[in-house]
Amino acid sequence: MNKPFKVTITGAAGNIGYALAFRVASGEMFGPDQPVILRLHEIPQAQASLKGVGMELEDCAFPLLHDIVLTDNAEIGFRETDYAILVGAKPRSKGMERNDLITENARIFSSQGRSINDHASENVRVLVVGNPANTNALIAASNAPDLHPRQFSAMTRLDHNRAKGLLANKTNKLVADITRMTVWGNHSVTQYPDINNCMIDGVSAYELVSRDWAIDHMIPRIQRRGAEIIEARGLSSAASAADAVVDHMRDWCRGTGDQDWVSMSVMSDGSYGVSEGIMFSFPVTTKDGEYQIVQGLELDEFDRSRLKASEQELLEERAIIADLLPKN
Ligand code: NAD
Ligand code: LMR
Repeated sequence: MNKPFKVTITGAAGNIGYALAFRVASGEMFGPDQPVILRLHEIPQAQASLKGVGMELEDCAFPLLHDIVLTDNAEIGFRETDYAILVGAKPRSKGMERNDLITENARIFSSQGRSINDHASENVRVLVVGNPANTNALIAASNAPDLHPRQFSAMTRLDHNRAKGLLANKTNKLVADITRMTVWGNHSVTQYPDINNCMIDGVSAYELVSRDWAIDHMIPRIQRRGAEIIEARGLSSAASAADAVVDHMRDWCRGTGDQDWVSMSVMSDGSYGVSEGIMFSFPVTTKDGEYQIVQGLELDEFDRSRLKASEQELLEERAIIADLLPKN
């Protein structure tokens, strides 16, 4: 039996947390041979509800779940953790843009970054889900000086999955037939879902859909899908977000293979001319807990303008929270 992975979920009693914890415990994230210890973190006011989540996890009798820790103490929550999934934050409500949340949520991620730095495993992998996810991930990474920024990421996998779902629907093909989807940029309305390199059942996506459809329908629909869900449910997406967390962590840990890639927001290293020092979504391949940004994709003027718009937004977000980024 493998040694259990310690997996921390913050905001574990919230909507995403409730959809996520059971899937991690069942083995969907790390596979059927990999036991886990769940370290579930919540604010003090949510401890009663967190206790209920813990009771339900016990009642599932998951064979792979070796222990459950419930806590409102970040030091305990992140102690020796191998995978930290930072969900705990306020979601936006109807009519709000993600930027409205920046100052409200940013402080959570500076203190959690420090706590991860001090208490987590030195090989920890961190995924930030709480919005604005990219900038929160930048804050967390910047407050963890003993860890490498490559250990931090933010979630654009939900956007990636949404784009695949929409394209499969439009072309009457299976999601499993679609490879090489790319989402560039920020998890926000400026993101750029790009199907230039997509293959669908062995043919290029643009043999099956028109460029006009992509520009006029697909891109804005995916950019605004989060708001569309909030409008319909009265609540932010939760089950699909938890599903994307499972996909993101599974692929980061277990690898994509080299036939396909996924979208992950990671620290920009200047690839494709994107400014360094922001968490930007790129196409990546993964292997053994490491990612490589896919290089050499051709970008035309339209593509570059889309990347620029998202880069600009992330630079503006970074300026708003500059006081939370330690000076070197
Ligand atoms: P929710 O309000 O249902 O749950 C959030 C939970 O976080 C609450 O239980 C709250 O008590 C807890 N929390 C708040 N501050 C905390 C802190 N400092 N430490 C630990 N826990 C804390 O919200 P939700 O629907 O689960 O969404 C959570 C976040 O995820 C939101 O910011 C939302 O916008 C974001 N989100 C991101 C994506 C993405 O694709 N990146 C998708 C969906 C939602
Ligand atoms: C989403 O994309 O569903 C979430 O980020 C919620 C939101 O605020 O849009």
